[in-house]
Amino acid sequence: MTNKTITIKRPFDSHVHLRRGAVLRAVAKYTAERFGRGIIMPNTEPPIDTVEQALEYRKEILSAVSSYASVLQNTSIDTAKFEPLMTFYLTKKLSPKDIEKGASGDVCKIYAVKSYPYGATTNSQWGYRNILEAKDVLREMENVGMPLLLHGEVHLNANDEEEDPYDGEKMFIADVLPRLLDKYPKLKVSLEHMSSAEAIDFMEKNGAVDKLVTTVTPHHLMYDRRQAFSGGYRALLHCKPLVKTREDKERLLAMVKKGLPFVSAGTDTAPHPESKKFSSCCAFGVFNSPVALELYTQVFDELGCLDKLEGFLSVNGPRFFGLEPLTATITLVKEDWQVTEPVVTEEGVKIWSLCHKDHGLGNEVIHWKIKSGS
Ligand code: DOR
Ligand code: ZN
Repeated sequence: MTNKTITIKRPFDSHVHLRRGAVLRAVAKYTAERFGRGIIMPNTEPPIDTVEQALEYRKEILSAVSSYASVLQNTSIDTAKFEPLMTFYLTKKLSPKDIEKGASGDVCKIYAVKSYPYGATTNSQWGYRNILEAKDVLREMENVGMPLLLHGEVHLNANDEEEDPYDGEKMFIADVLPRLLDKYPKLKVSLEHMSSAEAIDFMEKNGAVDKLVTTVTPHHLMYDRRQAFSGGYRALLHCKPLVKTREDKERLLAMVKKGLPFVSAGTDTAPHPESKKFSSCCAFGVFNSPVALELYTQVFDELGCLDKLEGFLSVNGPRFFGLEPLTATITLVKEDWQVTEPVVTEEGVKIWSLCHKDHGLGNEVIHWKIKSGS
């Protein structure tokens, strides 16, 4: 490592949405160039809640990543080496039998189960209103050691009325998470995309390698709600959980700077077609995979803790899922560049990435760039 280049083990994305069909074929490349493996979110339509569906989805991803023009421009990074690690959606249909089959890996290995609170975000209509009702499934996950990935927000109250979206994570931390951990003391849990001081307080107190971990996105590290409303509403930053206050963001930065072993990178890259982002009802989701690794590096550089980057990106994530870090590497160089084009699907649909020169916050410059890899 110099102050101009850094080489780390190939990163692991603990949280990635790739979608299906033409969108998948257009976006998977950006994840596969940057990350050697990724935990694939199951909130597709229909949701993934059987091993057969997971297998079919896995094959679709593998076919996409091996179809690209082999290597990233001027590097030796081969997208075909990307390994998708599949998950189940905690739907009402998911049963202990499914957990057992997923854990065995006979048809398709399932690495985790993702819980979406009903109504809180994209395709969350299949989720539980109250996760504690999923008793038998949670018990079986505890038995077989399958991790639970939490979208940790309270969205609806007991009368089915929406709570304030800025308070959803805070309420989940105060009320739901302690009860869940109490009831299932051996369950492996990851609190995804942390965004609030309350979540950070809870994790700094209770986080433990192999037991209770957390993931952090590039956008929650870089932005707060001042930017989300700067000069008008910024659709590319609209996501769940919402980006919060400057203080919340500063707490997140201070936390990653500590290099805690239970904190890892989960980009939550979540592509939506232009028609759904620039619409009267803007879809939740930040599409960041074309810039995610570069932004994490930039943030750690600005914090003066590039020595903590490899743990966060490449070691802590796989360890939680019982995997070794990869031996292959990626090298980034400190060099300015901009995202000037949208990603375009084979049907001509545009997907705009975070930091796009015109549709991001305006003329954003990224300070790190991928140079090479193995
Ligand atoms: O912003 C988000 N987008 N948050 C989520 O939880 C889901 C994701 C998506 O699938 O678009
Ligand atoms: Zn997500």
